[in-house]
Amino acid sequence: MNTLFMHCRPGFEGEVCAELAEHAARLNVPGYAKGKAASACAEFVCSEPGDPQRLMAALRFSELIFPRQWARGRFVDLPETDRISVILAELADLPVFGSVWLEMVDTNDGKELSNFCRKFEAPLVNALTKAGKLVDDPSKPRLLLTFKSGREVFFGIAEPQNSALWPMGIPRLKFPRDAPSRSTLKLEEAWHHFIPRAEWEERLAPGMTAVDLGAAPGGWTWQLVNREMMVIAVDNGPMAESLMDTGLVQHLMADGFTFKPRKPVNWMVCDIVEKPARNAALLETWIGEGLCEEAVVNLKLPMKQRYAEVKRLLERIAEGFKARGIRVSIGCKQLYHDREEVTCHLRRLGKA
Ligand SMILES: C[S@@+](CC[C@H](N)C(=O)[O-])C[C@H]1O[C@@H](n2cnc3c(N)ncnc32)[C@H](O)[C@@H]1O
Repeated sequence: MNTLFMHCRPGFEGEVCAELAEHAARLNVPGYAKGKAASACAEFVCSEPGDPQRLMAALRFSELIFPRQWARGRFVDLPETDRISVILAELADLPVFGSVWLEMVDTNDGKELSNFCRKFEAPLVNALTKAGKLVDDPSKPRLLLTFKSGREVFFGIAEPQNSALWPMGIPRLKFPRDAPSRSTLKLEEAWHHFIPRAEWEERLAPGMTAVDLGAAPGGWTWQLVNREMMVIAVDNGPMAESLMDTGLVQHLMADGFTFKPRKPVNWMVCDIVEKPARNAALLETWIGEGLCEEAVVNLKLPMKQRYAEVKRLLERIAEGFKARGIRVSIGCKQLYHDREEVTCHLRRLGKA
């Protein structure tokens, strides 16, 4: 049980390794990170068997930027037939689980295993339940089986409260038929990730006000309108007419980097593809000057040193707020719907 296994977007294995290696060094957990390019996964291999659990207990999964899912455990070879007996034998020294997820990595090879996993799930759940190893209890650890092939599985454990919200960290969100662009799902995913569901009614409430910078054609505005917010949509491009017809949207043809609302708003969201330092500065101004309470902004990633660069930007933003004497919670995640970017969420908490 000496390995922490993580899923990620293919091509970001190096970022996961850099991020975990840094945390492990800070927490004095000896080990090394490895991740084959384009494998959509990475590992942190610890020197001591108990250390992956120590790492998981010391870190909040939701605060990690690049990992989509994580679990501590080991790789197990599976036979071609009667895989269930081998899995049950592996479970002998492990606790009772509250749920089981069958996962595969986000590559073409991984996707080919989804049929296998779908068929295997029901008999496995039956066998685990019959053996007393699986009960319906969300407070118990989750068994995460990541199939690398039908013959090899990563046998992982994670706490449901401190791991991905969805299997493989891939949200099951339905594209709203009347939303004007696919990027609508990005903002919805950001809300799921950064705002606990129980707080949606209060923090994404009808009648709230929002500014959407770089709004056209309106996928993000659609999400705000769907929560019955009043939206100022700033973009030189055209907004979808269906959104304008709601009467909840005011479209301004202006520069998103200089626009400021007359009165503070509840939300500012920004999907302008620009140099990350510019978008970061925008966040600092809006939250720092009290122009909004919460913000969701995309940061485009640089070509190299992507983790180091994001961290540097986040630290600079945090220092800016410290200098202003205000408390702000800062979250950052490469969401499933993000490509060469990460999504930041900021919330003004009050005076330091
Ligand atoms: C990725 S698109 C936004 C898509 C939108 N979030 C949606 O869901 O439909 C980026 C938008 O930013 C706008 N944009 C680029 N630079 C801008 C600026 N300086 N001020 C305002 N909008 C800008 C572009 O016109 C474009 O419509």
